[in-house]
Amino acid sequence: MFEKLQSKIPTLLQAENLSTDEKLKELCLFLKNEIPYYDWVGFYFRNGEKEELKLGPYAGAPTDHEIIPFGKGICGQVALSNSNFVVPDVSAQDNYIACSISVRSEIVVPLFVNGKNIGQIDIDSETPDPFSEADERFLEFVNREVAKIL
Ligand code: SME
Repeated sequence: MFEKLQSKIPTLLQAENLSTDEKLKELCLFLKNEIPYYDWVGFYFRNGEKEELKLGPYAGAPTDHEIIPFGKGICGQVALSNSNFVVPDVSAQDNYIACSISVRSEIVVPLFVNGKNIGQIDIDSETPDPFSEADERFLEFVNREVAKIL
């Protein structure tokens, strides 16, 4: 499944008539629609020089968490760790920010531009424990492609 999706992403991100935010929004919608257990897909980016993340383009239910301080929640932890964070069961996490009670699991993968962690892709799922290493490799690919247009 991921190989086929991967081949479509460069074209999607090169759409000439779209702004960067529009391209990222299209990408979020694409991932949410194509992968059955991706129920919310969004980007967070570092908010200028502040020690916080700001919500970028996303697909899925609106969230109250437009700003997340570094260190807070899964997203804020990834801003500091520079590492993927796979959460098979969100109820087992102490440092977690709930966006919706229907969310069971989450994966966050940092986005690097010139080696610098400038944001992340965040996926919420209503399925328990759905993410494998294939998701991690796929989302790392997605972020490398996104980095090229930022
Ligand atoms: N659950 C995230 C917050 C962002 S929402 O999932 C959209 C976290 O714990 O950082």
